[in-house]
Amino acid sequence: MSKRVLTVAGIHTYYGESYVLKDLSLAVPEGRVVALLGRNGAGKSTTLKSIMGLVPPKRGSITFAGARIDGLPPFRVNALGVAYVPEERRVFSHLSVRENLLIAERRGTPWTSAAMFEMFAPLARMRERRGRYLSGGEQQMLSIARALVTGPRLLLLDEPSQGLAPVIVDAVVDAIAEMKRQGLSILLVEQDLEIPFKLADDAYIIDQGALVFSGTCRELREREDLQSRYLGVGA
Ligand SMILES: Nc1ncnc2c1ncn2[C@@H]1O[C@H](COP(=O)(O)OP(=O)(O)O)[C@@H](O)[C@H]1O
Ligand SMILES: [Mg+2]
Repeated sequence: MSKRVLTVAGIHTYYGESYVLKDLSLAVPEGRVVALLGRNGAGKSTTLKSIMGLVPPKRGSITFAGARIDGLPPFRVNALGVAYVPEERRVFSHLSVRENLLIAERRGTPWTSAAMFEMFAPLARMRERRGRYLSGGEQQMLSIARALVTGPRLLLLDEPSQGLAPVIVDAVVDAIAEMKRQGLSILLVEQDLEIPFKLADDAYIIDQGALVFSGTCRELREREDLQSRYLGVGA
């Protein structure tokens, strides 16, 4: 059993009166890629927002690297080593690619700007281009790179392949594979199985805010019943 970097234990999360996450538990072992799956509206993004402290759970606990983080504000969670790439790909539109990385980079990380230009070759070619003139795929790469240069121990990725051309998806998959090789722990939210089956070790499926499967990706491959019931595969 490898050490857990993240443990989410029985969280209940609400938006106002609306009850979204119902007793959700999951774990990310050190150095693993864990997929969090489920159809649109299942509660995947809310799970990441709960971990970051953006939408704090009302009950349950979240433990990162041995310390409780539920109740902490997002900037504290980030400072402890959790980086978050939201669905909306936030980059500074008026700053260049280089400047976007420069302002995020923390000292002492192996994930330097220079390393990012190696990992994402298209970004290297447009170092001086402003964020607003990047394509969707380039913005996605820059969002991921901005998260990495903060030197995280855990990376939360929300649907990194969404809306991207296949060639860009391949570049993102290669980048995630490289992060995994270097020992980074990753919680990867996806709606389909293409990337999880290439990269993830473990998988969780949530439906209507509750856990309906937890196991290895290998197990999930065999479970076509779950794939069609909860992920719309083959539908
Ligand atoms: N800001 C919000 N206010 C109220 N309800 C929300 C908000 N964000 C998401 N929800 C609701 O919470 C549920 C889960 O949403 P979400 O976590 O975004 O799902 P997923 O990421 O799996 O598509 C959905 O029913 C959605 O409508
Ligand atoms: Mg979402």
